[in-house]
Amino acid sequence: MSSRPRIRKAVFPVAGLGTRFLPATKAVPKEMLTVVDRPVIQHVVDEARAAGIEHLVFVTGRGKAVIEDHFDIHFELDRTLADRKKDKELAALKADLPAAGMTSFTRQQAPLGLGHAVWCARDIVGNEPFALLLPDMLHHGKKGCLAEMIEAYDAHAGNHIAVAPVPEEDAHQYGIVGVEDAKAKVSRITKMVEKPAKGTAPSNLHITGRYILQPEIFTLLETQERGAGGEIQLTDSMIRLSKTAGQVFHAVRFDGAIYDTGSKLGFLTANIAYALERGDLAGPLKAEIEKLLK
Ligand code: G1P
Repeated sequence: MSSRPRIRKAVFPVAGLGTRFLPATKAVPKEMLTVVDRPVIQHVVDEARAAGIEHLVFVTGRGKAVIEDHFDIHFELDRTLADRKKDKELAALKADLPAAGMTSFTRQQAPLGLGHAVWCARDIVGNEPFALLLPDMLHHGKKGCLAEMIEAYDAHAGNHIAVAPVPEEDAHQYGIVGVEDAKAKVSRITKMVEKPAKGTAPSNLHITGRYILQPEIFTLLETQERGAGGEIQLTDSMIRLSKTAGQVFHAVRFDGAIYDTGSKLGFLTANIAYALERGDLAGPLKAEIEKLLK
């Protein structure tokens, strides 16, 4: 066992407007759209809980109250399921329900960027290293991405960012890192840049939306100026944490599949991929797809 503080808390920035998915997201938060029969945010919370996270911190915004309801008990529903002897469904709801006191919700009042959303969680996280999971990005592998990152954190001190290769023509849409050893599972980061101009990316490794960060990031976020896209960027504060505060950043390569459910294509692909892994759906779904493709 390492003597480092354990990663107990995970932050989920869920205040985004979901404009890429209108009109679906006009009245329903994009995080509540479903991949098969679980909301996107539930899949990401599943990943965090499988990694041993004990406290879930949601940074929400106006129109997102249904996320809070989703992670609360629903007495009438439980009662109805019990009366109808729907024991399996009831047990599944109970298994998903976070324990009392295990969730916190705070609001990002204005859409000022990811860095600002993370900063909104500062008082709830306090002075301990924490995990950050961007709910749009579903990470699907044999082992959960955050579980792999916590293993890397236990072995190496500092901050950790999940990365994966991305086609060169898409690099300008992401944070990109340069590393000491691009083939290693865990490697020290030598460079970070948020949304590099075409042709200037330091490598093909993009930041996939899973982080383990030291709490000093909050002090830097407080004074972070606007960066790419006119937003307060998390990456810019991570660069300062590494350059001015001398903190080490590691890239942890994720080898599973990653689906950007904030894009229509990513969302549809995730639904098919997750459904094809379900014993109750794979066979009939394949048959339907074959019919459609004929
Ligand atoms: C954010 C991060 C970026 C990362 C991306 C992953 O960008 O700033 O570094 O690569 O998430 O989805 P956004 O998608 O908010 O523009």
